[in-house]
Amino acid sequence: MYLVLILFAVFCLQLLYTKKWKYKSMENIPGPPPNILIGNMGLMKGNIEDMFHNIISLNKTFGKFVKIWVSPITPKIVIADPGVAQKVLNSSLSKSSLYNHMFPFLGNGLVTSHVDLWRKDRKLTNVAFNTKLMDPYNIAFEYHGNQLVSMLYEKTGLNALNIVPFVDLYALDVICETMIGVRTHILKTGDMEYLNARSQFLTIVMNRTYSLYKGYNFLFKFTNEYRLSKRCEEILRDFSKFLISEYMKNSKSRSNDDTDTKNVFEIITEAGLTGDRLIDHVNTFVVAGQDTPASTIAYALYEIAHKPEIQRKVVEESVEILGRDKNVTITRNDMHGMVYLEALIKEALRHYPAVPMIERTLDEDLQVSGGIVPAGTDTTINIYAMHHDEEFFKEPNKFDPDRFLPANSSKINLSGFLPFSKGSRDCIGKTFAMYQMKSVITKVVRNFELLPADPPVKLVLTSEFVMKSSSGNQIRIKPRQL
Ligand code: HEM
Repeated sequence: MYLVLILFAVFCLQLLYTKKWKYKSMENIPGPPPNILIGNMGLMKGNIEDMFHNIISLNKTFGKFVKIWVSPITPKIVIADPGVAQKVLNSSLSKSSLYNHMFPFLGNGLVTSHVDLWRKDRKLTNVAFNTKLMDPYNIAFEYHGNQLVSMLYEKTGLNALNIVPFVDLYALDVICETMIGVRTHILKTGDMEYLNARSQFLTIVMNRTYSLYKGYNFLFKFTNEYRLSKRCEEILRDFSKFLISEYMKNSKSRSNDDTDTKNVFEIITEAGLTGDRLIDHVNTFVVAGQDTPASTIAYALYEIAHKPEIQRKVVEESVEILGRDKNVTITRNDMHGMVYLEALIKEALRHYPAVPMIERTLDEDLQVSGGIVPAGTDTTINIYAMHHDEEFFKEPNKFDPDRFLPANSSKINLSGFLPFSKGSRDCIGKTFAMYQMKSVITKVVRNFELLPADPPVKLVLTSEFVMKSSSGNQIRIKPRQL
């Protein structure tokens, strides 16, 4: 009994300290009224789609800066103001507790590593993304893009084809070949073990981030999700170990290969990284470089299937640049001319940002309208909300590639367009991703006429850190006469 009273007294003192002193400077920042025992975790009721919807809608309801209480004593600021978001991304390089939950899998890879180590490794791996040295990646884009097209020819005639697993497996083959130097044939075998494990692991990460108790490691250990996440980690790590051993097996035949281009794996092994450090980087590059382009490609194809006028423009542009031979190799130079397709991809990244929210822990105090947020507070940068803000994008819910055409550049304010984040901890693979997406979308639309599923199936958006549709991206495909 005494223990309960003491614990209650400690809780009350902590609450008083938090509200009246530590976070007093934030008291005028708006947000949903918190419950004294669970803060705002009531927002996280329901399934993961409801949770996602509740979080991304916060700024629409309360304004560009919203305070939520993720525990009775822990606030978080959700930001949808482009200027302040960029300020945070430029000044705060530390990742929030959300990323701690990914640490058992991604360890000291770039996404989750602590700032000092990250600085060194980012400088090291940047070399693999030098635009001038990207031509060899095109070999993988061509090979696996053609494999995807062959596979899709077997799926013509279906009333509904969920394009996501095909694009997912294609993107996994591409990333293994380009980043690690191992040619896999996972699309051909259709082996979903790695992708299913990754999806389950990241869903658990999201659930932990928005749970009252699963965020604490010692409590999480008592849950079924803990056991499942351990099993997923094992599958994911085994996959990376398999890639490393395949690379090592073939390394002899590569020893005379003295090209300027080195993939990420060659760079980090030559820098002397071994053991867990090596596995962490392999895990990180495979996850970060597979999931995001795959989901953007799937959204772009879904929109192309539903908008005949957009489809016509993409096909016409590709014929102008590449002619009518479907087997032609698409070079990077060809891709530079694909202005309409680039606008379409940017619109897909705006409308369906693959990473709808990112987080940082503030490295310094932050002045926002409504108060000062102290250093050490976690912030969510609500990319989805900024991409759907009418102030920056007219008719934000309309899918309209024209807004990104060079002719309209004076009419658009891109400060709120952050699909690849901003600042020095932005996406290392953004240029690579644009080439890959242009290459594969071109191949698919030149080979197939894309149509809505019959009957059409709407997207149901949700987040496994990367934005997904829980109804899949369902379309129909017919062989095309170019
Ligand atoms: C459509 C494609 C892509 C999108 C939308 C995207 C988006 C992002 C975003 C928003 C971040 C910041 C994450 C954060 O702050 O938590 C990020 C980081 C990162 N991305 Fe990408 N990405 C894409 C493709 C790629 C590709 C193809 C690769 C690798 C080849 C890659 C590798 C990485 C890595 C390693 C980081 C961590 C960078 C660091 O912290 O230094 N991404 N990406």
